[in-house]
Amino acid sequence: MVGAGYVGLVSGVCFSDFGHTVVCVEKNAAKLAKLRDGQVPIYEPGLDLLMEKNMAAGRLSFTSDLAEALVEADACFIAVGTPTRRGDGHADLSYVLESAREIAEAMPQDLVVVIKSTVPVGTNRKVADTIAQQRPEVAFHMASNPEFLREGAAIADFTRPDRVVVGLESEHAESVLRAIYRPITGDQTKLLVSDPETAELIKYAANSFLAMKITFINEVANLCEKVGGDVEAVAHGIGLDSRIGERFLQAGPGYGGSCFPKDTIAFAQTGRDSGAVQSLVEATIAANNQRKADMADKIIAACGGSVAGKRIAVLGVTFKPETDDMRDAPSLAIIPALQTAGAELVACDPQAAQEAPSLLPGLTWYDAPHEAAKGSDALVILTEWNQFRGLNLADMAATMRGRCFIDLRNIYTAAEVQAAGLSYWSVGRRPD
Ligand code: UDX
Ligand code: UDX
Repeated sequence: MVGAGYVGLVSGVCFSDFGHTVVCVEKNAAKLAKLRDGQVPIYEPGLDLLMEKNMAAGRLSFTSDLAEALVEADACFIAVGTPTRRGDGHADLSYVLESAREIAEAMPQDLVVVIKSTVPVGTNRKVADTIAQQRPEVAFHMASNPEFLREGAAIADFTRPDRVVVGLESEHAESVLRAIYRPITGDQTKLLVSDPETAELIKYAANSFLAMKITFINEVANLCEKVGGDVEAVAHGIGLDSRIGERFLQAGPGYGGSCFPKDTIAFAQTGRDSGAVQSLVEATIAANNQRKADMADKIIAACGGSVAGKRIAVLGVTFKPETDDMRDAPSLAIIPALQTAGAELVACDPQAAQEAPSLLPGLTWYDAPHEAAKGSDALVILTEWNQFRGLNLADMAATMRGRCFIDLRNIYTAAEVQAAGLSYWSVGRRPD
């Protein structure tokens, strides 16, 4: 497993738990030292125990030496990052191609090289060419195997997937991947075999569609606020139609994270470059960016039209609960906008202590929600951590300076919040 980032580490640990022998190759020395010591550098529920168990069983190890890891390998997964390249929106493939060159240098005969990183259509062939040019004398087999892991639920998503997608053109690659995934694909109906281009497109199309679904319900929420109606009930009402489905129809402050923002941008760019403009995806990107700006305006409006000199407490800054990931979190757009408008911001988040302070300068951090609320004019729920679902609102209201409660994840009802003496603003319900 080349790259022990989020996807590489979860995949490596889960593969080892299936009984396979896994060596994770990680270049970052500090991260490698932690991993070797049995520490998980990211926050993902359950990952630490599973890692410890499989390291102890001798099936999982970590190294910086790719050649050593390849000696007895049947397959090598590339799981390095593919961030958005500055300037043109394309996925930056430099880490993937660098890994391909390093693999080529050390690969044994008949290695199956599997691309797990999210890469634009055509990358599988590009990597194959790179490897073949460098080592024309060694036979190898290419495959694409995109991941569909949600952060915070990655182990469940990995071990109980809706489907496993592999794109390949060689029988040997297919039989190796079938063997690797056999423990979770049961009768194998869940294993979808296609050509490499189709597999690459499935990943981008799936993420773009989900991002579009969220953006759709967010726009419906805007409409509900204007004309009446409750977005939760609308989502439920449309979601019960099995052609639509209820999941990913939760209105909120806009999608963030390591995948939807970058994958929609890359997919739209591929569409433009190849003369098949993805206009719905283009509109989704623009609407989601606008949404984050609108959320700051919504908070300002709730505070009476100005936040200058006001103290605003934000509960939750990560892009979603059960993760410490701050990539493209809505908080990174909303909080600075409020600071620029003259507000004093304080925050509380169960997992953001490490990364968030440097990304969100000028904030005062508190460990507990009620401490953050003390003396505040407004309280904003930005990430729906479980810890924020059962707040003692009356106690918090008693120590607040103002009365404003803005719930951008709709985890409370107007009645509950008003009973505590606070005014309630939420998403997709008419303001009170
Ligand atoms: C992954 C996938 O790569 C990406 O395509 C997908 O869309 C989201 O998930 P992620 O695992 O989150 O990305 O990326 P990152 O946390 O950056 O992890 C990549 C890891 O690979 C890092 O630990 C990095 O140090 C390591 N790496 C990178 C290498 O070991 N070698 C390299 O050449 C480059
Ligand atoms: C996503 C995909 O779900 C996963 O299949 C893919 O492999 C990686 O990208 P992830 O980014 O970890 O996973 O989280 P996800 O749960 O999909 O949430 C992404 C963003 O959408 C978050 O900001 C979340 O708050 C938001 N979201 C999600 C909503 O606003 N409403 C919803 O109904 C669902």
